[in-house]
Amino acid sequence: MMQISPIDAVIGAEVTGLDLVQDVDVRSIEKLNLALLERQLLCIRDQDLDPNSFAVAAQIFGVPQEQLLADYRLDENPKVTVISNYNRMGGSKPHVRATHWHTDDSYLAKPAKMTMLFAKALPSEGAVTEFINTIAVLDAMPAELRQGIEDRRAVHKYLSRRNVAKVAIRTAEEEAMTPDVSHPLVRTHPETGRAALYINPNRIDRVEGMSDKASDELLDELYGFAFQERFQYHHVWQPSDLVIWDNRCTMHRASADFDISQRREFYRILLRGDVPK
Ligand code: SIN
Repeated sequence: MMQISPIDAVIGAEVTGLDLVQDVDVRSIEKLNLALLERQLLCIRDQDLDPNSFAVAAQIFGVPQEQLLADYRLDENPKVTVISNYNRMGGSKPHVRATHWHTDDSYLAKPAKMTMLFAKALPSEGAVTEFINTIAVLDAMPAELRQGIEDRRAVHKYLSRRNVAKVAIRTAEEEAMTPDVSHPLVRTHPETGRAALYINPNRIDRVEGMSDKASDELLDELYGFAFQERFQYHHVWQPSDLVIWDNRCTMHRASADFDISQRREFYRILLRGDVPK
């Protein structure tokens, strides 16, 4: 029987006793979606998914969409991509990507509302993805700092002035699909009405209406506050975990703290989102 229980005080719920391919009925779908909205992240244990059954199961939570970079899409199902420390496009040197705090796709006008990762291969130790609860960040923010961002917007760019991570090269077509966009720094969740800090250090270029210097100071202060341990949950992956999180009220990053020669690999699906408001 399906059981859902909190996985951590900061964020997340663990789901056991559920096979996403076999036994999902209307009542379970309702419960899963409510738990996801409430806890912002679900870890559904012990799943057995291939790219196609993963894409079907993803529809429980939304509409899978193709991610921007076509190179990473699987031939079997283009809505599914692979995240791996071994580049599936033929590179032989292992690497870990996405090790800086981010929320997915914020360089798009309609960023993915949720991301799903299914664990395909894990190193023997240190397979961790770290999350921040950005509702908790906003709730705990000093009043003065919060007032300073309430009605402000930031410009998000695929390749921003403040980018610290290595960014995948876009084709000319992908570049044309990713003009700069502007999003509020505080967004209201369209389904729960809860307000969350909406930042993406790699993609935010500047806060609108401020000089570069003033904008950089504000962003540094926001990041310093948001990245505190007390807002974090570190997910230690188990084989066959499926984790789904809400990009509208969380941030995440991969931990590179493992033996990089061991394979760490996930299938990934993004779910269609709305314009942040
Ligand atoms: C991601 O940022 O989508 C991947 C996170 C991870 O590899 O742990």
